[in-house]
Amino acid sequence: MTLSPQWLDELRSRTTLSTLIGRTVKIQKAGREFKACCPFHNEKTPSFTINDEKGFYHCFGCGAHGDAIRWMTDQRGLSFMDAVKDLAAEAQMEVPAPDPRAAQRQEARATLHDVMASAQDWFVTQFNGIEGAAAREYLKNRGISEKTIREFGFGFAPDSRGRLKEALSVHGVDQLVEAGLLIKVDDRDPYDRFRGRLMIPIRDPRGRVIAFGGRILGDGEPKYLNSPDTPLFDKGRTLYNLDKASPASRQTGRILVVEGYMDAIALAQAGFEDVVAPLGTALTEHQIERIWKMVEAPILCFDGDNAGQKAAMRAALRALPILRPSHSLNFIALPAGQDPDDLLRSEGPQAFAALIDQPQMLGDKIWQAEFEAEPLNTPETKAGLKKRLSDHIRDISDQDIAQHYRQDFQQRYEEAFFRKRDSGPGQKQFARSKSGFKSQYVSFKPMDDTKSVLIDGHDLRIAKAILGGLIRHPAQISKHFEELTVLRLADSQMQALLSELIHAAMSKEMLDMQGLLTILEQTDCYNVAKGLLRADALNFTFNRKLPDNAPSDDIERAQNDLVEAIKVITARPGLEAALAEATRRVQDNLDEESYAEQQRLRQAKQEFHDRLVELTQVDDIV
Ligand code: UTP
Ligand code: MN
Repeated sequence: MTLSPQWLDELRSRTTLSTLIGRTVKIQKAGREFKACCPFHNEKTPSFTINDEKGFYHCFGCGAHGDAIRWMTDQRGLSFMDAVKDLAAEAQMEVPAPDPRAAQRQEARATLHDVMASAQDWFVTQFNGIEGAAAREYLKNRGISEKTIREFGFGFAPDSRGRLKEALSVHGVDQLVEAGLLIKVDDRDPYDRFRGRLMIPIRDPRGRVIAFGGRILGDGEPKYLNSPDTPLFDKGRTLYNLDKASPASRQTGRILVVEGYMDAIALAQAGFEDVVAPLGTALTEHQIERIWKMVEAPILCFDGDNAGQKAAMRAALRALPILRPSHSLNFIALPAGQDPDDLLRSEGPQAFAALIDQPQMLGDKIWQAEFEAEPLNTPETKAGLKKRLSDHIRDISDQDIAQHYRQDFQQRYEEAFFRKRDSGPGQKQFARSKSGFKSQYVSFKPMDDTKSVLIDGHDLRIAKAILGGLIRHPAQISKHFEELTVLRLADSQMQALLSELIHAAMSKEMLDMQGLLTILEQTDCYNVAKGLLRADALNFTFNRKLPDNAPSDDIERAQNDLVEAIKVITARPGLEAALAEATRRVQDNLDEESYAEQQRLRQAKQEFHDRLVELTQVDDIV
């Protein structure tokens, strides 16, 4: 039996070496690689390294070195063929039958590469020729530069049924059909598949062209036409731009996943080179696994509209069965109706950079999608939410991960329906404040958060005061779990402290300040926490040390003020964004309605500000 080098390459690339080795040896993540104590010699400190992307292991102690197959033969003691069979079964590959034609097929594959390379050259020539003018114009209008055109190899297929067939006739019609370049229906004469389209070559991880996507130049259906699956091209296993994204991700430690090739290209042109896209299908398990070989938590970018968010949820659920420790998916939702390319063109790279800076984690995504799936106003619908969540948890095969999700969802569920909300005094507090304030804060409360709330600048000082307040009044942490978890403080020490506070409140039901400090003592945040207790930078009631015999009114007041400060600070960024948007609308078209909206938001912002000032100017209560 002959196994071709290509077939063996494929087998290696479908095998995740660390997973394989991790079954027999305890491995540990170390940067982009894994470390372990070498199974081939005796050692106490790990010098055995596994590199998933390169697909080999190496021991710096004894020099043991090899790939997945070598591991199976040398460590597991299998014969070469048995090793290959085992790995192939796992990778869902068929071991080629002992058949002389297999070798021929391999040869054919090699020549298919030649066919694709010729086709690529030919499309590029057409693109640069007279007939390519419209395609060049189209890309120019989309803001694609000459450099990008060359790097991504754009081409053009003339509107003809036979020009490619003729130009590439040396390869023979059968090969052209097999390469997906010609369509053959029954016994009729094969004809060119791509006609009158802008051609985008799809490359394999080694940069070789294995398929094409063709975009129609004007309107029309289908907008994109892809090569069919061929011996070179398996849609569900290919990622567009992987060959360029993989080295780029080594610099950035990040992978972005977008839905379309034009998005990937536009992002790469804007400097986000670590970007891949599936090919017109939902992300498959294979594609996710492939991405995980580069980074542990890729960022999936989906349109914020309904369809986009459904797609995001599908990807999230698809990942559950294959989740493994440290590996996950992150998400960002683009403004509704925009893809990354649209956003880059309308708002510029910074806007996109800001979005990917604060991705939503897998658990948040699933919780949010289910929580918002339908109104939760009856016991039945609430229990329905619980059922959907437990069904998702059941899909997670890794039991440790499943357990964490179970705990997390349980917590949120109880938080949403069973914890007693602040009422009474809190409401009174609002009644005392300026009229209209309450209803407005409700409408800007970012609890429909698709993203987290970034706190920086001046609000960071208020956030510090709130952290100090939470340490003094720890019972408030779990009561405001939802608001607190979306906050992203632009100060890493403060963010770390916030996370520890949430963590502590999650793991312990009843917490007082002393208990909390004892927990914090075990963390790196202790000194920061103590510092906050000492600081009196802001004059909030909740930052004051109350005497042991303080009247309950004072305690209540401090807690209510704390609650309000949390609400103001979480609502404000949403309000700011709404105001910016409204201002833009006013500038675009000044009509009565948008002007009134802008004024209303301005007013609301002023009230927020006043309310904060009011909160800090407390009369002496101690
Ligand atoms: P979109 O319709 O969102 O296109 O399809 P797009 O990427 O924004 O393209 P432009 O900006 O209009 O040029 C997203 C992806 O879905 C696949 C393609 O991979 C496309 O990039 N698709 C779309 C198809 O395969 N066929 C189609 O007819 C449409
Ligand atoms: Mn687009």
